[in-house]
Amino acid sequence: MDAMTLINEAMLARENSYSPYSGFAVGAALLTGDGRIYRGCNIENGAYGPSICAERTAVFKAVSEGDRDFEAIAIVGGKAGEKPASFCPPCGVCRQVLSEFCKAELKVYLYDGNNIKESSLGELLPMAFAL
Ligand code: THU
Repeated sequence: MDAMTLINEAMLARENSYSPYSGFAVGAALLTGDGRIYRGCNIENGAYGPSICAERTAVFKAVSEGDRDFEAIAIVGGKAGEKPASFCPPCGVCRQVLSEFCKAELKVYLYDGNNIKESSLGELLPMAFAL
């Protein structure tokens, strides 16, 4: 699957973002080895702490459905109600969660509304901790 197709899925996921506190809407789309796509958005909470990022929503949806084989993730984010204007790289917690289930070769696609930036989980989280 080409990067833009997965990015478009992340854009659709972003439409469901619940982010009234930060005003920052994020969408993610996680591609499995057999071509399934799990979408995720950030879901905030008035108590702040229980909020969850888009990437972890996507990973937890997939794992809870029995999928643990991942090829790529696309992530888009920006001011809610506006198109993405800069790249939205995954936060440190999401990198650690991705590293629990994904190989270092997982492709990570970011999109700033004009350009695609491709990297890998290994580049984003070198020397990852694992038990
Ligand atoms: N957020 C994500 O969903 N993914 C990231 O990688 C970075 C941050 C969310 C969390 C919060 O709802 C909002 O963006 C602002 O931090």
